[in-house]
Amino acid sequence: MKSSNHHHALSCFLILSSFLFSRAASSGGADATSIVFATLGRSSYNFDIYALPTTGQSKEIRLSDGKSVNFNGFFPSPSSLSLLPLLPKRPDPTTHFVYISERNGSSNIYLDALYDTPPIRTGSRSILDVSTESTRVQILLTRDGQTNNRVSMKDKPSLVGQSLIYVSTHEDPGEPRASWAAVYSTQLTTGSTRRLTPIGVADFSPAVSPSGVWTAVASLGEKGWEGEVQELGTDIYVFLTRDGSNRVKIIEHGGWPSWADDSTLYFHRRCEDGWWSVFKASFNIKEGELGVDSVVTQRVTPPGLHAFTPAASTANKSFIAVATRRPGSDFRHIELYDVVSSKFIDLTRPVSPNVHHFNPFFSPDSSWVGYHKCRGASSDGKSADLLLENLQSPLPSISLFRVDGSFPSFSPDGERIAYVKFPGAYVMNSDGSGVRTILTRTAFSTAWDWKRKGVVYTSVGPTFASESTKVDIISINVDDEDLSYKQLTHGGENNAFPSPSPDGKWVVFRSGRTGHKNLYIMDALNGETGGLHRLTEGPWSDTMCNWSPDGEWIVFASDREDPGSGSFELFKIHPNGTGLQKVIQSGLGGRTNHPWFSPDGKYIVITSDYAGVSAEPISNPHHYQPYGDIFVIKADGSGIQRLTHNSYEDGTPAWSPKSMLSGNVEWPNGGGSKCSFDDCHWLNIRTNQRSSSSKRECAQL
Ligand SMILES: *[C@@H]1O[C@H](CO)[C@@H](O)[C@H](O)[C@H]1NC(C)=O
Ligand SMILES: *[C@@H]1O[C@H](CO)[C@@H](O)[C@H](O)[C@H]1NC(C)=O
Ligand SMILES: *[C@@H]1O[C@H](CO)[C@@H](O)[C@H](O)[C@H]1NC(C)=O
Repeated sequence: MKSSNHHHALSCFLILSSFLFSRAASSGGADATSIVFATLGRSSYNFDIYALPTTGQSKEIRLSDGKSVNFNGFFPSPSSLSLLPLLPKRPDPTTHFVYISERNGSSNIYLDALYDTPPIRTGSRSILDVSTESTRVQILLTRDGQTNNRVSMKDKPSLVGQSLIYVSTHEDPGEPRASWAAVYSTQLTTGSTRRLTPIGVADFSPAVSPSGVWTAVASLGEKGWEGEVQELGTDIYVFLTRDGSNRVKIIEHGGWPSWADDSTLYFHRRCEDGWWSVFKASFNIKEGELGVDSVVTQRVTPPGLHAFTPAASTANKSFIAVATRRPGSDFRHIELYDVVSSKFIDLTRPVSPNVHHFNPFFSPDSSWVGYHKCRGASSDGKSADLLLENLQSPLPSISLFRVDGSFPSFSPDGERIAYVKFPGAYVMNSDGSGVRTILTRTAFSTAWDWKRKGVVYTSVGPTFASESTKVDIISINVDDEDLSYKQLTHGGENNAFPSPSPDGKWVVFRSGRTGHKNLYIMDALNGETGGLHRLTEGPWSDTMCNWSPDGEWIVFASDREDPGSGSFELFKIHPNGTGLQKVIQSGLGGRTNHPWFSPDGKYIVITSDYAGVSAEPISNPHHYQPYGDIFVIKADGSGIQRLTHNSYEDGTPAWSPKSMLSGNVEWPNGGGSKCSFDDCHWLNIRTNQRSSSSKRECAQL
């Protein structure tokens, strides 16, 4: 199985050189700015790749290096590895695995090889993008060059021969509410990359057949994405791995395919009886053509528990691995399912009962099952949880940061950030130092006064609540030693999203005081009692308002075109109530929220579902709105540009007048990750879940 690495050494070196990381030096130009946003739950993930043997009670091993967020692993076959010139010439390592990592501020695919003995460094291979621990060689497999230098999300990798098959989101289909997820193949020795998914179609969760000839995907096909969050309504398509041709739909309604052999696929689907279950599809392949008419599907896992994200074992067809949620358990676990005796075998529950485990995968000989889970605090007690994470930004003049909190806002000089983290509000310096509590109650939406130094506005009370919920706006002088608080609204009619005028005189906010959420303007110093005008009026919701730096416009989100539908568009209006116009709409029924003007007023940063979802939501922890990404538009709504690429819920962006210091900032005092994030809420098992089904598609055969 050993390749002669001799003649590969040169080509390997060339690839590594061309892989040189040309990280755009954060342009320190005069107009450089930063955008900070929040991502639901992400700061708790700290995922690593782990593995357990399928037989016997051996210890769990951690495979990835305990840095960043590492997920969706894959064990390459020995034959595939023997073709790769990327690995140093050394005795066989203990194991190889491919995975996604978010290290260095963007999502990329890595191959790690773990050796029993420290590596010997040789000559020219002083390994640029290969970092070595004593027993680890780490190789970055995807380069921005393969995605036209565009930042993108990568997902679910497979290595077949010398080709890496994976999802990337670097191509804009040019249509609102269309997912950018598509399957690509990169030849690792040449770097040449080919799109396998047809233009205008979104594919997720690719899996390559054992022969390498076929790739199966979960696809939205021609239907597109219509806002689905829990189950995407994908179908399974199969095409030739070589070039994406011979594409054919083989299974209606299904996702997360995994091949047992070239004519057997396992996949998941949510049944009419409410249970996520694993199914098996068998079909014929004749002369390179799939016999679509011959497909037979069969439910494999029984009702009574959720079983999903299957992995088929190619070496031993008698079992598969699945993730489960069982009644009585709040945690997602990996189990084996013996398809011959119809029995489950616990894998991860005895090892770490109170942690979520995701997306199992088998070693080529089926002796190991890999998965990812949160690593918790490391042995030295440090978590390296990030307070500020510096992401790679697709726009060179705008640096991008994720803050471990919500509703950030910048002081007018850009020196400080206010944000909330339930329950409480905080202020810190924009380099992440000096975090200070300014409120210990539940609050949201912060904003700084433009004229009175140190005055922060916020709304105190629960988010996502009805018009009559008790929420009021206060101002806090964070420069006062006693933090003098001042209540600006008193009625408690869900008064929220304060945004002060640049002249320091007024605050625009939304209020549910008439039974509908509309916009009002009040006196900045004395609140409602100092003066109040109504700005918008109608039986709908106007909310999330932001006052432009030149004082001329207030941009806000509204569902006025289809009240109560959940669809939000952006509008802008002059503070005197004239000039109302639509800024942007994300397709029919789409969502665009949380607008914030750029410091020069020429652009607006927004949260939108413009790029749909980027992965099957069930393969991730819970996100209410997994489609949330951050975009920048011109102030007239044109020229949309995507800033974030991930399958998480990103939101509440704010724009700083100056560029923040580049680099990540860890939480002071480490603290130790609590791994405290939720599994998908819609997998929670309710007692009223129906237990039987008459529907054919889920009937047990
Ligand atoms: C990538 O991140 C790691 C830590 O996760 C760091 O050690 C390394 O220097 C970074 N590499 C680059 C090119 O920034
Ligand atoms: C396959 O797995 C089953 C169940 O663990 C085991 O009984 C059987 O011996 C295995 N077969 C092979 C060929 O390894
Ligand atoms: C309202 O404000 C806009 C922008 O400042 C201004 O151009 C317009 O003349 C004003 N209209 C009225 C009726 O005051």
